[in-house]
Amino acid sequence: MKERISALLKREPKADIVTAEGWVRTKRDSKTVCFLEVNDGSCLKGLQVVIDKEQFANDGLLSSITTGSSVICKGPIVASAGGSQDVEMSSLDVTLVGECPVDTYPLQKKRHTIEYLREIAHLRPRTNMFGAVTRVRNTLAYAVHQYFQENGFVYVNTPIISSSDAEGAGQQFLVTTLDPTNPPRTKEGAVDYGQDFFGKKSFLTVSGQLEGETYAMAMKNIYTFGPTFRAENSNTKRHLSEFWMVEPEMAFCDIEGNMEVAESFLKYLFKAVLENCSEDMAFFSNFVEKGMEDTLRSIVDTPFVRLPYTEAVKELEKHSKNFTFPVAWGSDLQSEHEKFLTEVVFKSPVIVTDYPKDIKAFYMKLNADGKTVRGMDVLVPRLGEIIGGSERESNLDTLTKRMVEMKLNPEDYWWYLDLRRFGSVPHAGFGLGFERAVQYVTGMGNIRDVIPFPRAPRLADF
Ligand code: 4AD
Ligand code: MG
Repeated sequence: MKERISALLKREPKADIVTAEGWVRTKRDSKTVCFLEVNDGSCLKGLQVVIDKEQFANDGLLSSITTGSSVICKGPIVASAGGSQDVEMSSLDVTLVGECPVDTYPLQKKRHTIEYLREIAHLRPRTNMFGAVTRVRNTLAYAVHQYFQENGFVYVNTPIISSSDAEGAGQQFLVTTLDPTNPPRTKEGAVDYGQDFFGKKSFLTVSGQLEGETYAMAMKNIYTFGPTFRAENSNTKRHLSEFWMVEPEMAFCDIEGNMEVAESFLKYLFKAVLENCSEDMAFFSNFVEKGMEDTLRSIVDTPFVRLPYTEAVKELEKHSKNFTFPVAWGSDLQSEHEKFLTEVVFKSPVIVTDYPKDIKAFYMKLNADGKTVRGMDVLVPRLGEIIGGSERESNLDTLTKRMVEMKLNPEDYWWYLDLRRFGSVPHAGFGLGFERAVQYVTGMGNIRDVIPFPRAPRLADF
């Protein structure tokens, strides 16, 4: 395997000839030498390549190399005389692989707004910021697998196309091959999905949880990590229509065990980026969210606050004048309430538990009070909800009743109910919105900037 620039930058000065391949970020000329900064996405910094102009005097090559062009440079790594780098390449040979016309290249050397970069999502990974986001996202994804593999969880791939609504909230994208202008009809005049590709109405999944639960009932501890889809018309800085979710599910586990895993999992992820992405995290701490690294360090060392919903509402009611949306027992916490709890009241991540049953999904375990369920949301400063989960209802009758109450047809969930018929056990799990995690650790303001190609209402470019 060829060495990446990150590895070349760690080399000691030495006479052997090495190769650097990448894209030119900047080019500076003096009378006798030309300096290229070549970046290959392996780290924030590029490799400074110093070219002796005399060597290339006549071939016009140097003038054809511009910001954005791709090059292969060969030469020894030497100690750098000036600037911020320890080493640089003293180039003996440069090949221009792909030119990059200065007048039409959308990524000029100047600073671009983040909104403009969103319009050129195919080129934005070539910027410092999006390169850093991409590397941090990669490190987090790897850490997700490491955490669960180290703790005995089995990775399970749940389907992307599903005929059941895992959240029962009706926010699904329909998957159909029927002709929208002339679909087959039933006798009653409704669209006849019996004649559709899957022989029944099918959707993109909103969550792998229900299928995940089936595997937890055999493998004990499992996790999924895959794309999920929500046809929810939310144009906010923390909602996507397509996002990745990490969903562990644990048999023989209650809400306490669930909270323990959620907290230790998040801390593991935060530690992983602090340890493995220090250069990128310093960039985010300096230019995106001041002090983010210190914040993460202190979070890793401090227990999360745990707070029943009823207590949270009491606390929020004391400050009701601060909010646009009223706070009252029975209504869902709005993002402003979640932020207030984490940023003002506790200055820490908070796990809110035991929500009213009417604002949560049908599968959450009903508490003895008959009014609340064993749900848990992990809230963090700036973002609000980062994890949603619960202990699951493991009693067949209670679960069936809850489905009927929530206007779901138990027959559609026959296989899910079977899990409560055959060897049912207390079990629990949660879902981490992967982009929310990337957004949180980087401090990026808009979730559309932490996924390569965001999908949101009226947005599916590229
Ligand atoms: O709270 P949610 O809807 O929970 C579930 O889907 C459960 N089935 C999870 C489980 O228990 N296995 O979603 C889980 C997390 C949220 O806390 C949030 O971080 C993220 O997924 N999320 C979104 N992220 C980006 N865009 C959206 N539209 C999101 N909706 C939820
Ligand atoms: Mg939720």
